[in-house]
Amino acid sequence: MAEPNPMQTRFTRQFGVRLPIVQGAMSWASSGSALASAVSNAGGLGTVAAGPMREAAFAQALEEMRQQTNAPWAVNIPLYNPRAAAYLDLAHAARVPILIASQGGPAAHLARFHAIGTRWLHVVTTPAHARKAVDAGVDGLIAVGGEAGGHPAPSEVSTLVLTRALARQFDVPLIAAGGVADGFGIAALLALGADAVQLGTRFLATTQANVHADYKAAVVQAGIDATTLVGRGRLPIRQLRNAFSARYLAAEQAGEDGETLAQIFQSASLKQAALEGDVDAGKPEAGQSAGLIDSVLSVEALMQQLTRELAQARQRLIDA
Ligand SMILES: Cc1cc2nc3c(=O)[nH]c(=O)nc-3n(C[C@H](O)[C@H](O)[C@H](O)COP(=O)(O)O)c2cc1C
Repeated sequence: MAEPNPMQTRFTRQFGVRLPIVQGAMSWASSGSALASAVSNAGGLGTVAAGPMREAAFAQALEEMRQQTNAPWAVNIPLYNPRAAAYLDLAHAARVPILIASQGGPAAHLARFHAIGTRWLHVVTTPAHARKAVDAGVDGLIAVGGEAGGHPAPSEVSTLVLTRALARQFDVPLIAAGGVADGFGIAALLALGADAVQLGTRFLATTQANVHADYKAAVVQAGIDATTLVGRGRLPIRQLRNAFSARYLAAEQAGEDGETLAQIFQSASLKQAALEGDVDAGKPEAGQSAGLIDSVLSVEALMQQLTRELAQARQRLIDA
């Protein structure tokens, strides 16, 4: 049994989600229905990551979500993806409750999704991106700071600063992401003005995440300085330090040209880490928050823990 809702926010009210907690889309880990439906059933917002999926598998995941949960759920579509148009058509046909778009402009797509009642959340990493998305009419922003796993803010501006800047500037539901692995971090970002908090890496270390056990174990073992940014100057990723990142960073340090760096960058993949468990030669994407994670939990146990910690953190502020 989930615990009573400790906090209503503009996000929980407007999106009908019981808790102000969002499971960040994670390619492979949430490219299917298992993780996302478990999160939505436990009171958070679960997100299916379309990114690496073939169209048929994506369509099947949408159908499974419909069958596995009555609570709101989301799909993430990276708009730069070559299959983005097909994903958008499938999401539209399935009338997904919430669409989370990343890496591209929303203006061309919003009207047809709003017409069927889909809410559109847009991932941003700068105030300028946020301004464009808000002007286009999105229903909320997901602000990703420099600590985040996956694609963090290329500017490396922290979640702490980005969240506060956007909360001051915009009057739309704001979901803050990056650097949070427990209820205390959630409380901190809610205090800054966020309406909900998105966690990625914490959900990697759950039984329902669709990644290899060795990847989960590497996240659990990681300290707070175990990650690094690979690909500065392009679309960087934050991942656990390993043989691949050492090779890339050495080449960068040696002043190798862009083509050589691009070749090294493309020589490894997240899939290698996620599906084969090759956490040394692949790209095991993870945020600094990996250093705050010390166990693999079921989604249900994790959501209860997050809820308890959030209540404790709020009480701490009152008692302090
Ligand atoms: C392994 C991994 C894969 C990710 N894949 C995606 C993705 O496909 N689309 C996306 O918008 N964000 C992706 N992200 C970012 C998360 O949705 C989230 O914003 C981020 O993990 C938050 O930072 P945290 O890891 O510190 O919680 C990914 C993150 C990780 C760790």
